[in-house]
Amino acid sequence: MSKKKLISEVKYSFKELFKTQPLLLFSPGRINLIGEHTDYNDGFAFPAAINKGIVLAISKSDSDNNKVYALNKKELFTFKSEQIKPLEYGSWKNYILGVVSELQKIGKDIGNFNSVFAGNIPVGAGLSSSAALENSFVFGLNEIFHLGLSKNEMILISQKAEHNFAGVKCGIMDQYASMFGVKKSALLLDCRTIESKTYKIDFKDYKLMLINSNVKHDLSDSAYNDRREVCFRISKKLNIKALRDASKDDMATIKKDISNGDYQKALFVINENQRVKLFSEAIKEGDLKTLGNLLYQSHEGLSKNYKVSCDELDFLVDQTKQNPNVLGSRMMGGGFGGCTLNLIKKDEYIKFKKVISEKFNKTFGKDCSVYAVKLSKGTHVLNSNK
Ligand code: GLA
Repeated sequence: MSKKKLISEVKYSFKELFKTQPLLLFSPGRINLIGEHTDYNDGFAFPAAINKGIVLAISKSDSDNNKVYALNKKELFTFKSEQIKPLEYGSWKNYILGVVSELQKIGKDIGNFNSVFAGNIPVGAGLSSSAALENSFVFGLNEIFHLGLSKNEMILISQKAEHNFAGVKCGIMDQYASMFGVKKSALLLDCRTIESKTYKIDFKDYKLMLINSNVKHDLSDSAYNDRREVCFRISKKLNIKALRDASKDDMATIKKDISNGDYQKALFVINENQRVKLFSEAIKEGDLKTLGNLLYQSHEGLSKNYKVSCDELDFLVDQTKQNPNVLGSRMMGGGFGGCTLNLIKKDEYIKFKKVISEKFNKTFGKDCSVYAVKLSKGTHVLNSNK
């Protein structure tokens, strides 16, 4: 559904349910050009907000509870602000409860609210629909209750909601990109200082193509937390704060004391961090060939060393190697499903979409989905009638 339609449906539904004028806002999903699994290692990533996201309508309420209507699911959720606890694993409600609870923990006294939200980010695609949802609520609550939080404070609340209520010990990349995105640009993000540099993106005759494998393997959340554990363990062994501070030489000093699996994973993080820097330089120089090669190298590391890919993603990446019009391809996000990111010649887009869709279906007996995305502005208010 288009953003415009999303906005009008959310607006309409809010009016029907609550008979007042809400604050309306948009919070986007994100892609990541390169720098995967580096964020929780205090490293670098290169994300961008996209033109798919969540529209939220929200206003204060005089009643003694909070109401959240999930328009896509047609589900109304009512809860009281006292004694908030996470609900069953995997529920969308946890993201909202998490935000409210984390606000309470820092002493922000929020009153009750009414809200309606809907989104057009495919769930499970690795485009951070959860970060968009968390950010929309923290931003909306900050506005209507005048909490005075900065964007940086808000994204830390969103991240904690994900840690403590959704059970994923994520880094800061998704929430950052969704909050701070800039139109037609990507953000070279330093995940230690939580600051970024904006890069205008123009791939000339090429464009980005996302191919969604439409799978999300069950182990993804636990495997994610497990990777994070490995990285912490190794940092501890090296006596450093995070793998960002490690070099390949450092790794050689502990190689014999750790498993080969752990060694490979840490080495991947060190290499991936390096690739982000090379990628940003290649962008400055307009060196598309290098960009493509770095994407392929990133995938190789994610698949063979960090071991977060899966058959469907490896297949999608491999297929592009036979097409000279695709400069590079890699899995994107946490892994075990979701999308691949491809840098493809504009003229070739439609043809390749057809070819890859047929091949994928023939191999896996199910469909993949192909999207073009625009790099867009981060979380923002759509109207100002508070
Ligand atoms: C998920 C997490 C992010 C990041 C990526 C991998 O999207 O939420 O914090 O770690 O995986 O780069």
